[in-house]
Amino acid sequence: MKYRRVRGTEDIFGTESEKWQQIDNIFKHICGLYGYSQIQTPVIEHSELFRRSIGEATDIVEKEIFQFQDRSGRDLSLRPEATASIIRAYLENSLYQSPGVVKLYYSGAMFRAERPQKGRKREFHQFGVEAIGSYGPELDCETIMLANRLLRSIGIEGSIIELNTLGCRKDKKKIAGYLKDIIGKNIPDLCPKCSDRFERNILRVLDCKNQACRDVLGNLNVDIKKAVCPDCINHFQELKRCLDGMGFQYRENNFLVRGLDYYSRTVFEVIHTGLGAQNAVGAGGRYDNLVEDMGGRPEGAVGFAFGLERLSFIAANLPSCSRMLDVFIVLQDYKLVGEALKEADFLRAENISVDIDFQGRSVKSQMRLANDRRARFVLIIGQEEAQKGVCSLKDMSTGEQKSLTRKDVFKTIKGGVNC
Ligand code: HAM
Repeated sequence: MKYRRVRGTEDIFGTESEKWQQIDNIFKHICGLYGYSQIQTPVIEHSELFRRSIGEATDIVEKEIFQFQDRSGRDLSLRPEATASIIRAYLENSLYQSPGVVKLYYSGAMFRAERPQKGRKREFHQFGVEAIGSYGPELDCETIMLANRLLRSIGIEGSIIELNTLGCRKDKKKIAGYLKDIIGKNIPDLCPKCSDRFERNILRVLDCKNQACRDVLGNLNVDIKKAVCPDCINHFQELKRCLDGMGFQYRENNFLVRGLDYYSRTVFEVIHTGLGAQNAVGAGGRYDNLVEDMGGRPEGAVGFAFGLERLSFIAANLPSCSRMLDVFIVLQDYKLVGEALKEADFLRAENISVDIDFQGRSVKSQMRLANDRRARFVLIIGQEEAQKGVCSLKDMSTGEQKSLTRKDVFKTIKGGVNC
């Protein structure tokens, strides 16, 4: 093989691609029900955007960004996530001028130079939402319920929403002090990464997957809420009341902190045991300082993103349209391909999917191809029949074959394709 795909990237095609499209379509429809509209932002942005929003001392910015200089020396990056880009677009296009909460959804490729493994790619895809313009915990509640609704809509059961609060910007120093005090004596028991995090971004110690570190934190009864201000605790209580009022199930996780610095107050993760080590199918939270930090007027905002690769992996029950093609046209003689093109053109204009063999195969081999392509009907065109204006139509699910006029062919096919 001369060329291979770049490490950590995938080719998505066939039924997997169909599945993604189906998820995308269902999600877009549901987001519409919640008042969201679509936004598409560029895959490349100025690197400074991500440094500023995600944070200098995060793994993403320190190690994972695909960063490069263009020919004019501009410092550009492939987006590692979309929230920063959406807020940039919100400000750059004055979207704040529209009344009410601005609700935007997006889907597309993101890039992070992580060590590739199952469920972790260097190019991956997210479907996400951002709601900008309210500090109210009710918006957090609606957003979390939307995440759950999206999962249900594609038949995913058994996911768990984990919830925590990180407090506001003022609380960050207090939280860091609280963690330094409580964990400080135990640094020798932590993994080398955590010793480093202790100095540079102490909150991330809580996120370590190393069992020894987890045990240390568990034994110390670490709970950053002890250092969070009363207003933020109240916001968190209100959110939980709101979720309880909706009969919504969630789990509090005192160790949930997230790997991006822009979060404040609510953070959440949607986990699914079917995913293995990379068990977060989606995640999000509030980021009440980001709009202002990026030069706008202060605005509360909340959002989340799902990873499509992970979604698709656990969406085993997605009701799928397993048939790929409505009609395959089989030619008794390749000279009749012109007739086939006319017929295909007519049917396609009626929203019926059609394919033809362009390789001059035998009838038997064309029938095999129709089978491979999971065609619902096979339309057989022969010289004599073409002259009489009729053709044979075979229903591939029943095996029944009839000689029909073109008009009747159309009626039968139209009646038989509803998937
Ligand atoms: P995140 O937790 O970095 O958050 O990513 C969200 C989801 O994207 C993850 O839960 C996971 O499903 C998927 N994902 C992340 N990295 C990879 C990877 N390397 N390979 C495969 N899937 C991956 C964000 O990106 C935030 N922007 C979410 C958000 C939106 N917060 C507020 N609004």
